[in-house]
Amino acid sequence: MFLRNYWYVAAWARDLGREPLARIMLNEPVVLFRKRDGTPVALEDRCIHRRLPLSMGRLIGDDIQCHYHGLVFDGTGACVKIPGQERIASAVRVKSYPAVERNQCIFVWMGDPDAPDESRIPTHFSVLDNEGWTTSLVDRPVKCHYQLINDNLLDLSHLATVHASTVGTAHVADVADVVAERDGDHVKVSRWTMDVPAATTYQQFGQYDGNIDRWQVSEFFPPAYFRINNGAASADTGARDGQGDKRWDFWVSHGITPVTEATTHYYWALAHNTWTDDAGDIAEFHRQCHHVVGEDLEVFDAQQACIDLDPEAPTFNIRYDAGPMMARRIIDRLLSEEAGQTP
Ligand code: FES
Ligand SMILES: [Fe+2]
Repeated sequence: MFLRNYWYVAAWARDLGREPLARIMLNEPVVLFRKRDGTPVALEDRCIHRRLPLSMGRLIGDDIQCHYHGLVFDGTGACVKIPGQERIASAVRVKSYPAVERNQCIFVWMGDPDAPDESRIPTHFSVLDNEGWTTSLVDRPVKCHYQLINDNLLDLSHLATVHASTVGTAHVADVADVVAERDGDHVKVSRWTMDVPAATTYQQFGQYDGNIDRWQVSEFFPPAYFRINNGAASADTGARDGQGDKRWDFWVSHGITPVTEATTHYYWALAHNTWTDDAGDIAEFHRQCHHVVGEDLEVFDAQQACIDLDPEAPTFNIRYDAGPMMARRIIDRLLSEEAGQTP
């Protein structure tokens, strides 16, 4: 079961052009393309004639032609041509989805197509448009239910073990001051680790002379968006007050789009002030961050494979699960509310 009345990331804007792009979102096949003026279009990726994916077809102007028997559909999903046949019933159409380009993302509304709520277009990627900042965008298929990724991003103690070679040290799990807060449907987990040696990546790019005060602040927005600020400053120089010597930070925005109950399309974006002119340093920092993403994906795939063997096998919660459990309860409640609205 998925929350439907939301905008989900369907693609990075840079990856959408004049070639049909196939996606599966919330168990529905979706084809995306741009009209000649650049406007994004999202249609059901399933020809109503014999159900070939329209993404195997080709664009003709602002329309898309099915690869099989040549039916043509316009950007609203209406069939505008059936080869060899004059009459086209109005029911001959595919579903269309509202699509919007914003902050380097293509968002698609998966709820009632006649009532997209534009006020709820996510803003969690706005940091990508900060002038003069350096960014990098990654998207990956993941073999897990999307909520495993939510859990991961609300408990960053896992850096101590999963990411020990780069951004993690044992301190972020052992001695951190962690506060999980819920504000409506929004969860924020703040993790402060004070006066500890810098992790490898932090030392390499922050160039600290001694211990650091380090923060990881993870904000969750349903169904599966995150905005995470990570950073550090020299210990005891005012980091918690927004000050600090050698203050250095970066943002990671996440859009987690369910594909099926057991697969997900993960959109991950790094953004930071351009703190050096050294392109090699920046490339190396990004390489290390991408490596971190790969380490998480390994965990997600293995976790889901294990869950699939016996979905009822027991689990239990630890103290750091407070944030993840808040998010799960929010999603459960929103699912019930949607079910009530749409019997
Ligand atoms: S399946 Fe698309 S035209 Fe026949
Ligand atoms: Fe991680």
